[in-house]
Amino acid sequence: MDNFTFYSPTYFVFGKDKEGDAGKYVKRFGGSKVLLHYGGGSVVRSGLLDRVKNSLDASKIEYIELGGVKPNPVSSLVYKGIELCRSEDVDFVLAIGGGSTIDSAKAIAAGTVYDGDFWDYYMGKPIKEALPIGTILTIAAAGSEGSPDSVITNEEGMFKRGASGNALRPKFSILNPALTMTLPPYQSAAGISDIITHLCERYFTNTKDVEVTDRMIEALLLAMIKEGPKVIRNPEDYEARANIMWAGMVAHNNTVGVGRTQDWASHDIEHELSAQYDVTHGAGLAVVLPAVMTYNLKHDVNRMARFAVNVFGVQMDFNHPEETALEGIKQLRYFFKEIGMPSSLGELGGKVEDIDEMAQRACYGNGREGQIGGYVSLSKKDVVNIYNL
Ligand code: NZQ
Ligand code: ZN
Repeated sequence: MDNFTFYSPTYFVFGKDKEGDAGKYVKRFGGSKVLLHYGGGSVVRSGLLDRVKNSLDASKIEYIELGGVKPNPVSSLVYKGIELCRSEDVDFVLAIGGGSTIDSAKAIAAGTVYDGDFWDYYMGKPIKEALPIGTILTIAAAGSEGSPDSVITNEEGMFKRGASGNALRPKFSILNPALTMTLPPYQSAAGISDIITHLCERYFTNTKDVEVTDRMIEALLLAMIKEGPKVIRNPEDYEARANIMWAGMVAHNNTVGVGRTQDWASHDIEHELSAQYDVTHGAGLAVVLPAVMTYNLKHDVNRMARFAVNVFGVQMDFNHPEETALEGIKQLRYFFKEIGMPSSLGELGGKVEDIDEMAQRACYGNGREGQIGGYVSLSKKDVVNIYNL
């Protein structure tokens, strides 16, 4: 196991009706004037926004609002949020929504207290400080509620890039599984795909003897495969929603990623699809992850075969471990299809003529130097091959 430091200071508040405590937690973490940040309107329609406002009123906390975050959040709204926070002396940013809203809130929180252009952080500048952030999660997917990351699309050039820093970790995150019951099945399924990919990006590692995190990842994958289809069949299955919501947090706050190298090629390859065609992140991953696994299969056949056996119960063929590994990837594809996810670039609206440009951006765009992937180092040519797969 590699050396590591791990800091995960978020205060998690989990369970039914917990959004009613929002005011209490903003106060506890020093907020007196809040930016309420949300998306395209689901939180208005569900009445969640009003409940949160009532909670802030009860704690005598002032607030202003900025809605309109789009899935695959964009830089223009971040600039608007930064201006608003500065002119209104906001001291706390409260995100109500999914990964897109939380990521946009993180960018605003960091940008407000920084003299330069917030995009510097998405070009690699270390993030030292940000306004405190709280989240009320409405979709189990990105894991941004416990992660130090934020992913934003810069409309100038359509780059989708991530920034990371402990200052971006939320002070508190309220996780009420019942809030996710209003999700359309496609969004629930995309969330499940994203969580599974966060686990696989960590599972495929070159670090030896990391049995604890290997086993934790396998356990989480098994739980996702069992619970995922339940919420597609019955969106109001609270217990399945609860299991998925906590898995989504654990999958990405890095509890299961410490002490080992990680991959992230699937995410880098998918982010270009989201930037180019505005596809739902998890849906893009359902197409990209099995392709990357297939392409990387020979790098460590035994690891891929172990995945097949321990996650999908494939019978080990000791004479032909490659066959075992391939069967695991087939089962993963089948699972994604079963929950309603696409299985080809064409289904995402992808065009063959865009592949070269997307591979170029994935490997060279915005400061990158030609190779991506921590498991197998992939060149532009490899990425072209993967898009073609
Ligand atoms: O905008 P509203 O109206 O709220 O609708 C949203 C949106 O259309 C809707 N939705 C969310 N909760 C709902 C709901 N509809 C009904 N009922 C509810 N309870 O779902 C749609 C998708 O929301 P979004 O926030 O985009 O979903 P998700 O959480 O999957 O976030 C995706 C973004 O996170 C980034 C992705 O790249 C993508 O931009 N990621 C962020 C990460 C991080 N910060 O650590 C890591 C991830 O790998 C990922 O890259
Ligand atoms: Zn993701």
